[in-house]
Amino acid sequence: MFSYLYFEELDSTNTYLKTHYQELASGTVVYTDHQTQGRGRLGRDWKDDKKSLVFSLLLKDNLNPKRTSLLALLSGTSMAKTIEEEGIPVQLKWPNDVMVNEKKVCGILVEGISQGEKPEAIIIGIGLNLNDTEFPSDLKNKAISLYQATGKTFDKKEMLDKFLKNFESFYQGYRKGNDEFLSYFQSHSYLQGKEVYLNYYGENLKATVVGITFEGKLKVKINGEEKELESGEVTLEENYR
Ligand code: BTN
Repeated sequence: MFSYLYFEELDSTNTYLKTHYQELASGTVVYTDHQTQGRGRLGRDWKDDKKSLVFSLLLKDNLNPKRTSLLALLSGTSMAKTIEEEGIPVQLKWPNDVMVNEKKVCGILVEGISQGEKPEAIIIGIGLNLNDTEFPSDLKNKAISLYQATGKTFDKKEMLDKFLKNFESFYQGYRKGNDEFLSYFQSHSYLQGKEVYLNYYGENLKATVVGITFEGKLKVKINGEEKELESGEVTLEENYR
């Protein structure tokens, strides 16, 4: 299902696929040793120090627009399982951050290209902190690498192959309407039962996390009332802006 494209350096693997998706086959995986303009969610940067695994996966096969948002959760789950299989306890922070020791080890940026309603391509970009030994001061208490968690050095390509194996198996189920990855997500949910702060229709509110729905939405209780969140950011920090 997958074919690889490797570059020593790129601006961003997501940007590369956005530019070239028309001439590339579904299942193309672009990876690089360093991104000069890596991008994160919500317009943020994603910096790497050449020790992280950074890659993007292109999907073009007959995507159902009602179910594409689940692919972000499916990708996070595939990475969480890959990390857990290395013997490292892991959690998933909705919608798609992977956490180790309460810190972020992996971030995911999913971008869609559509013609009208119909998705033409989905680009799943993943940054896994692998062998990093330090992070910029603003991320110090928030980020962790697998090396920092275990004292072991990991091979980039091996981790990529292991991730793709897990992705393929969850993705085959997903294509048949079997979203078993959601049960894994639910049982590893970092936010389950926690009090969180979030922005709901422009208002900063406090909520309690109840669970993940079968559509991959986050179910929360706000002032005793259940609501379902489709996307966005929730945080455990009260001074969130
Ligand atoms: C986030 O947590 O904000 C998402 C980070 C996603 C980073 C990855 S690294 C590979 C791919 N290329 C990019 O420019 N971004 C994603």
